Amino acid sequence: MAHEHDTQAVERVYRPSPGLAVAVDDPVQNPGLPPHRERVTDKDPQANRRAVRTVYTLFYVSVAASIWAVAAYMLFPIEGEYATMGNIRNNNLFIGLGIAFALLAIGIGAIHWSKSLMSDKEHVEARHSTRGSEPTRAAVIQAFATANEESGFGRRKMIRNSLFAALVASVIPGITLFRNLAPNDGNDPVQLLNETMWAKGERLVLDPEGTPVKAADVTIGSAFHIIPESLAGLSHDEGYLEEKAKAIVLLVRLLPEQLKETEERKTWSYDGIVAYSKVCTHVGCPVALYEQQTHHLLCPCHQSQFDVTEHAKVVFGPAARPLPQLPITVDAEGYLVAKDGFSEPVGPSFWERH
Ligand code: FES
Repeated sequence: MAHEHDTQAVERVYRPSPGLAVAVDDPVQNPGLPPHRERVTDKDPQANRRAVRTVYTLFYVSVAASIWAVAAYMLFPIEGEYATMGNIRNNNLFIGLGIAFALLAIGIGAIHWSKSLMSDKEHVEARHSTRGSEPTRAAVIQAFATANEESGFGRRKMIRNSLFAALVASVIPGITLFRNLAPNDGNDPVQLLNETMWAKGERLVLDPEGTPVKAADVTIGSAFHIIPESLAGLSHDEGYLEEKAKAIVLLVRLLPEQLKETEERKTWSYDGIVAYSKVCTHVGCPVALYEQQTHHLLCPCHQSQFDVTEHAKVVFGPAARPLPQLPITVDAEGYLVAKDGFSEPVGPSFWERH
């Protein structure tokens, strides 16, 4: 009898209508809910208290890890005279570990809380039309109140407060790190990117060997990674990496007739040899790939391509401007030297340099 009743109900719901309704022959039957099984924390008050302790301990572990990340930022400074490789390594490692443990502990604590302490009773939610009527609003408020009661969010103050503390503490390492994005050392960023170690008469040497390069040694189609000679003599403590990040250059030789040089830059190359900043003008990756056949330099990060024959103009990709060119010539011994520094800031475009 019950079966007959069900069949009629299904037919009523799925009866084809003259509109866009779709007839379903075999509607999915409701399998019903499995019997509810109580957890050990529902039955055993001791286990419940243990779970509460575990949860708030995890949240406080997160607080400690966040504080550790800030402490590591101060213990291993990476500015000025403290910018040693050891400090940079420790700074990155311990800040990273602190943030990772802080987030992990919040995550594990939240999962443990929901799995072992919040109500896991199954609920059936019947579908109904969504209307903002008064009874619906009252029901929603009631649902929130019930959820609050069952999750213990309002009642379990120790857990709730420790979670708030962990969440607030977890953003502090981020604030300290963001501070480094705007160093308040009085240096003008445009000027910093404009000034490299390239200057008139500076020899071009191989990176990292520091061997000077003779124009006669640069064969057609070859590409060399080049730094200024005075940079090769710097130590890490003297800012080797910072200077190299700005001054690194790619040297390429083509047949002189393949270069389409503007009148102004005709003297910036030497017998088909041209030098361009290796720092991509998109977001600063090293433009390290040279394609001999097309004479294109390719940035592997987002595939910007620059045409070496036409002053490294952008021929593809998101970079907004050409790679800055280093004017070069040779000295009395035939070694390649810079005629001057770059005429514009190297690296990514920014608000003052499009
Ligand atoms: S950094 Fe070179 S294309 Fe994005």
